[in-house]
Amino acid sequence: MSDSRNAPHTLRVALGDRSYPIHIGPGLLGDPRWLSPYLAGRQVMIITNETIAPLYLERCRQGLPEGLEVRELVLPDGEATKSLASVERIWDALLEAGFNRRCTLVALGGGVIGDMVGFAAACYQRGVAFIQVPTTLLAQVDSSVGGKTGVNHPRGKNMIGAFWQPRAVLIDTDTLATLPPRELSAGLAEVIKYGLIRDAEFLAWLEGEMPSLRALDAPALTRAIERSCEIKAEVVAEDETEQGVRALLNLGHTFGHAIEAHQGYGKWLHGEAVGAGMLMAAELSQRLGWLSAGQVARTRSIIEAAALPLSAPADMSGEDFLVRMRLDKKNIDSRLRLILLRALGDARVHDETPPETLAALLEEFPRR
Ligand code: NAD
Ligand code: GLY
Repeated sequence: MSDSRNAPHTLRVALGDRSYPIHIGPGLLGDPRWLSPYLAGRQVMIITNETIAPLYLERCRQGLPEGLEVRELVLPDGEATKSLASVERIWDALLEAGFNRRCTLVALGGGVIGDMVGFAAACYQRGVAFIQVPTTLLAQVDSSVGGKTGVNHPRGKNMIGAFWQPRAVLIDTDTLATLPPRELSAGLAEVIKYGLIRDAEFLAWLEGEMPSLRALDAPALTRAIERSCEIKAEVVAEDETEQGVRALLNLGHTFGHAIEAHQGYGKWLHGEAVGAGMLMAAELSQRLGWLSAGQVARTRSIIEAAALPLSAPADMSGEDFLVRMRLDKKNIDSRLRLILLRALGDARVHDETPPETLAALLEEFPRR
């Protein structure tokens, strides 16, 4: 089966003998050329959720060569599913099927499925192969690349997990056609993030292309995915386990994770919380004298153009933010570490924000 539209583009995450490709293009699902090279053995389990299964499970199965032992596991949809209980369901299914260390797990879905399946793979029989087949924009530009896997704990987002790299990432851009607009916007938050932290030129391009991106214009989306994955791959190759530069990928996330955890997982989408969080980070950067009012206004405009929230939840006090932010994994020795902006396209890790400056931002940032 071949696709006559544009040939896929391949990037590489350079991690020595754990290096892997990211294939990006239309029509990848269902074409056996893309999954086959990355299977560890004959046993394959495709894990997805009940929303994605009717849309893409059959096509994914068709992308596997004949003669394999293939199982499927369909989990409930939603961030609340990203739990240890769901991971246990995956392990139970693998054990029941008699899957051995040469099995391969295929994570077909968004970041929830990808994070959870990756974690299940990291621990099953001390680590088995897995392939990321991301179907949301957010997963295509961020969560499927880089090997951060895990689940939520009631006390904090992504608190239980492991670094475990996939064997490949297959991004079939056709899957975005069925993505609800709110989910598309959530993915655009992470795309904007790459521009803000590392590439002012890309940010300027995004400012011009936002209407096309929201209208699912294929060339624009492909370019946005490719540039985002390039940046993510570079950062991960430089700092796989987040000892330094990888922390910059968390721009807006400390605020955003606080919103997600306070609201109850799933009420605000991760990307929505990151959108509001990036604006909070930009406003804090302005209070520290790092960004101008004009640069903050540009940040606000692009977040607004992506149809992302510009305010925090009405029922969240400054103290509610602080309680959650103190739990952030980036903090060291109880110092709050935040990712802030020195300029648009230039992010820094900062752990010296005066507490009163942060408190004022948290109190005064708009609520809705
Ligand atoms: P998600 O996985 O919940 O997917 C969003 C929704 O879209 C779900 O309802 C899903 O069923 C549906 N969906 C998925 N693909 C679809 C398609 N093609 N058509 C129609 N519907 C589709 O959410 P997400 O935004 O993809 O991921 C968020 C998760 O990713 C969070 O848990 C977050 O913590 C995690 N994350 C991880 C990393 C990382 O580096 N590992 C990075 C960023 C985010
Ligand atoms: N999404 C942040 C990271 O992968 O490091």
